[in-house]
Amino acid sequence: MIKGKHLLSMADLTFEEVWGLIQRAHDLKKGPGRPVLEGKSVALLFEKPSLRTRVSFDVAVHQLGGHPLYLGREEVGMGEREPVADVGRVLSRYVSALVVRTFAQSTLETLARHSSVPVINALSDEEHPCQALADLLTIYEKKGGLEGVNIAFIGDGNNVATSLALGAASVGASFTIASPPGYHLPPKAEEEARRRAKRSGATITLVESPQEAVRGADVVYTDVWVSMGQGGETERRHKAFALFQVNQALMARAGDGALFMHPLPAHPGEEVSEGLLEHPQSVVFDQAENRLHVQKAILAEILG
Ligand code: CP
Ligand code: NVA
Repeated sequence: MIKGKHLLSMADLTFEEVWGLIQRAHDLKKGPGRPVLEGKSVALLFEKPSLRTRVSFDVAVHQLGGHPLYLGREEVGMGEREPVADVGRVLSRYVSALVVRTFAQSTLETLARHSSVPVINALSDEEHPCQALADLLTIYEKKGGLEGVNIAFIGDGNNVATSLALGAASVGASFTIASPPGYHLPPKAEEEARRRAKRSGATITLVESPQEAVRGADVVYTDVWVSMGQGGETERRHKAFALFQVNQALMARAGDGALFMHPLPAHPGEEVSEGLLEHPQSVVFDQAENRLHVQKAILAEILG
């Protein structure tokens, strides 16, 4: 269904495509899968640091029989050494897909417009769709389904929150986010999430109290207060988010069965209390593992 398409935003996927990717990832997790990328190369173009995304895409391409090619910011100089459009035009003469981690969503859009091969968003300032799909797979596995699940996101309405809100709304899971004033989901993302939620029977709720958000939650999710590229706002953000830490007291309000989730890397002592990553309710390392399975599904569906 998504063969040959770009994946720049969760909003690029229909409900059926989201479910299809979760199901395909679930199946691929059981065995090695067919070498559907045999003879194909995939460029991994990263303008920001990465552990999980870079390694899991590299391994995913290998496991599917293809050849991953990592390109860092310095060597490509996208938009500096040459225009973004030309990077897209040239790379698509060599490789079968571009996996791109960048700053502006518009960079991905420019690449997609000028590439003759699919472009996959490996994190931008606006979205992180591969993370959201891995998160949904993790919740599906742990909770035995997604419809009717309540996800509470505590913190910044950032790239991770946006993709998760859109993804949750696509599968009938409700999404509540608690953020300080000025840090809520971007209006465009909120609107699209509400449109999707209305069709899937879920709800999207924006509040300012973490305690209110976690009431009845099946999943408590948080992400860093300062995302990559926002270093200049560190002091202001630390002040704004000081009361938005996920800790044992907040988890206790959600209840024993609630999962704790975080995309990692985490900053214990800031958005998450010391020791919570290792708590039995935490599934953060399963989430990290599921990046591999979900990205194999994405590559197999788009390129297979
Ligand atoms: N969660 C995530 O995308 O991690 P990396 O930044 O290490 O890739
Ligand atoms: N919001 C974080 C996610 C990192 C995986 C960032 O963009 O830095």
